[in-house]
Amino acid sequence: MTEGISEPISYRRHWDRTEPFDPPAVLGELVRTRPLTRMVYPDGHIGWLATSHDLAREVLSSQAFSHRFHTTHAPVTKKGEIFPSVPIVPGGFIHMDPPEHTRYRNLLSSEFSARATRAYAPRVAELATAQLAQVREHGSPVDLLPTYVRPLSLRVLCEVLGVPFAGSPVLSALSDSATDDQVSIEAEREAGTQAYFHLLDLVGKARVEPGANVIGRLAAEPGLTDREITNMLLIVFAAGFASCEGALASSLLALLHHGDQLDTLRSAARIGGASGIEGMVEELLRYTSVNQFQIFRTALSDVELGGELIREGETVTVALPAANRDPAKFGCPDRFDLSQDASAHLAFGYGVHACVGQQLARLVLAEALTSLVLGLPGLALDVPLEQVPVRLKTPVLSVLRLPVSF
Ligand code: HEM
Repeated sequence: MTEGISEPISYRRHWDRTEPFDPPAVLGELVRTRPLTRMVYPDGHIGWLATSHDLAREVLSSQAFSHRFHTTHAPVTKKGEIFPSVPIVPGGFIHMDPPEHTRYRNLLSSEFSARATRAYAPRVAELATAQLAQVREHGSPVDLLPTYVRPLSLRVLCEVLGVPFAGSPVLSALSDSATDDQVSIEAEREAGTQAYFHLLDLVGKARVEPGANVIGRLAAEPGLTDREITNMLLIVFAAGFASCEGALASSLLALLHHGDQLDTLRSAARIGGASGIEGMVEELLRYTSVNQFQIFRTALSDVELGGELIREGETVTVALPAANRDPAKFGCPDRFDLSQDASAHLAFGYGVHACVGQQLARLVLAEALTSLVLGLPGLALDVPLEQVPVRLKTPVLSVLRLPVSF
């Protein structure tokens, strides 16, 4: 029997993307016709897939759903295989529920608040300018991934956290191994171990001499062990770097492919600088929606959702790219249109686990795009879109090379 959307859909279908900008077509169908549908998980569990904006917010903000790893049926590797069960480590807050989660989260929320992030703006602009100088020095044509997108995302995160840039390859290797579907689980684990010990060493140093950065302040926090701090940092780095790099690269690709929108953004940046394009950054986040799968929660008890009974223990996956294309929420859901109000997008998730670094991510995108479009007025893709390599089927959509001329 061919799998229609009236049958439970298989797990793979919801992230089986074939286009760099558009989520799998089945998601567009589901959000319009059956926003809560049954889905077969890799371990055989028949759970759910939520695709609408309303349901996404309901699941992600409800205490009836847990993010604890061991309750879920969803953990799969980047290749879609069942993930070996892993214990929750001290400080591993991303897979904890309140109130356990709250303690760690509060410590980080103050580090990445809107106010704290505003203070980083001049330095992020400075870093973008310095990186742009390197792009110019390289000359046209150039691949913007290794010359601009990656080093800028990495430098900002390293400075904010307090990781010396010289040691950053150990951390970017962790991120690369986690997102590259060709890397084995063993190699990914090894990269994780290396990154852990690198950060542990920095935490040890910060205990003696705390710097004015995230590591320094966490090290000065009473009651946190080195292991807790290191695991918190690992999460921040792993969650932050790939998403930031992926969002910046995908945003640039979308702008370069839609020349009229690039002109619109450039005009706004010319008038208002990075703050003049803040609203447009929201549309870029909505349209690109780089965190395309592995957003899931599991019901802690029987709970009603969208007119269905979700039974205790059933896992609901939330398709953020689908929710961000929900016609009930956005005027032109499938069009990239910088003039539309996209501020209600869910690219950063929602609820207690919503992206803690979202203000920093917005700042990096606004400063990086402003610097580039004003600094390189003739910026254009150097190859046809089809020749830009994009990893389509990994949890974070990643553009692998971005060849441009200027
Ligand atoms: C444009 C770039 C980014 C995007 C699209 C993004 C997206 C997301 C999403 C969708 C979630 C929710 C996951 C869930 O509910 O299961 C999340 C969580 C998280 N993000 Fe981001 N993120 C970005 C940048 C960053 C940055 C720069 C940082 C760090 C500085 C960061 C740190 C985190 C952390 C620590 C969490 C877990 C929060 C928690 O569980 O309480 N992210 N992010």
